Amino acid sequence: MTTSSTLAAPVLEVRDLEVTFGSGHSAAKVLKGVSTAIARGKTLGIVGESGSGKSTLAKAIVGLNPVSGGSIAINGQDVAKMTGAQLRAMRREVQMIPQDPYSSLNPRRTIGQTLAEAIDPVRSNPRVHRNKISHWLSTIRLDPEVAERYPHEFSGGQRQRIAIARALAVEPKLIIADEITSALDLSVQAEILNLISRLRAELDLTMAFISHDLDVVHHVSDDIMVLFHGEVVEMGDVDSVYGNPKHPYTRKLIDSVPGGPGFDIGERRKAVA
Ligand SMILES: Nc1ncnc2c1ncn2[C@@H]1O[C@H](COP(=O)(O)OP(=O)(O)OP(=O)(O)O)[C@@H](O)[C@H]1O
Ligand SMILES: [Mg+2]
Repeated sequence: MTTSSTLAAPVLEVRDLEVTFGSGHSAAKVLKGVSTAIARGKTLGIVGESGSGKSTLAKAIVGLNPVSGGSIAINGQDVAKMTGAQLRAMRREVQMIPQDPYSSLNPRRTIGQTLAEAIDPVRSNPRVHRNKISHWLSTIRLDPEVAERYPHEFSGGQRQRIAIARALAVEPKLIIADEITSALDLSVQAEILNLISRLRAELDLTMAFISHDLDVVHHVSDDIMVLFHGEVVEMGDVDSVYGNPKHPYTRKLIDSVPGGPGFDIGERRKAVA
């Protein structure tokens, strides 16, 4: 007999999530009952204009924002009920790739040191983890020799690759990528999107991929959720949301994209060539 307990819980399940900043007259409800889920090996694209609450949701999931209603569960475990040790474990299991590759890497640490710390925060000696460091650098197509170098020696796109490697090196259950291409030039954006596409296929990643740009999101997502003023206005598989949007706001987001649906990464590249 199949019962619900024998079915694997989604890696992430968010139910009726509310986040309110401030209190009394100045209280602002930024997330107004958001529900969603991400199954193992799937990528959920989260899209919406600036201020719609995307980063607020991302930060709530990793425990950086106060939750005023609803629940967040990681692998079926309610985050609000986790003990100190469980919370510490969860902070490793859910890895955020930040937006700004210039401020996200410690300038005083070599790339090897940064990756060693991601691999093992207790025993973070790069020499001990040389093989794994080489592996993750090869995975993002950088020469393992760069482990000896410092962040300032790299371009924005290379730093963003390193930030991706750092998140992968933790071997997290869930990756949250919040606007990881928006600080980059168009050609470099395409490069990072291609990398993410390849990693999704190779590593079976489970990911929330956040962007204000629906065109960016649709390249790397299985499902898409559209946020508007802190509410989910549309959610479904990528083909139905991008190919056949139901909500006028989603249509507006598509119309604001040069070329609209079908404007693929190759076209994006041609646009900048
Ligand atoms: N710590 C905070 N205190 C008060 N208000 C906040 C806080 N964090 C976010 N907000 C407000 O919540 C709203 C949503 O912000 P959020 O950063 O989640 O938007 P976003 O969708 O990520 O936008 P963007 O595309 O510009 O990154 C905004 O009005 C913002 O001013
Ligand atoms: Mg944001």
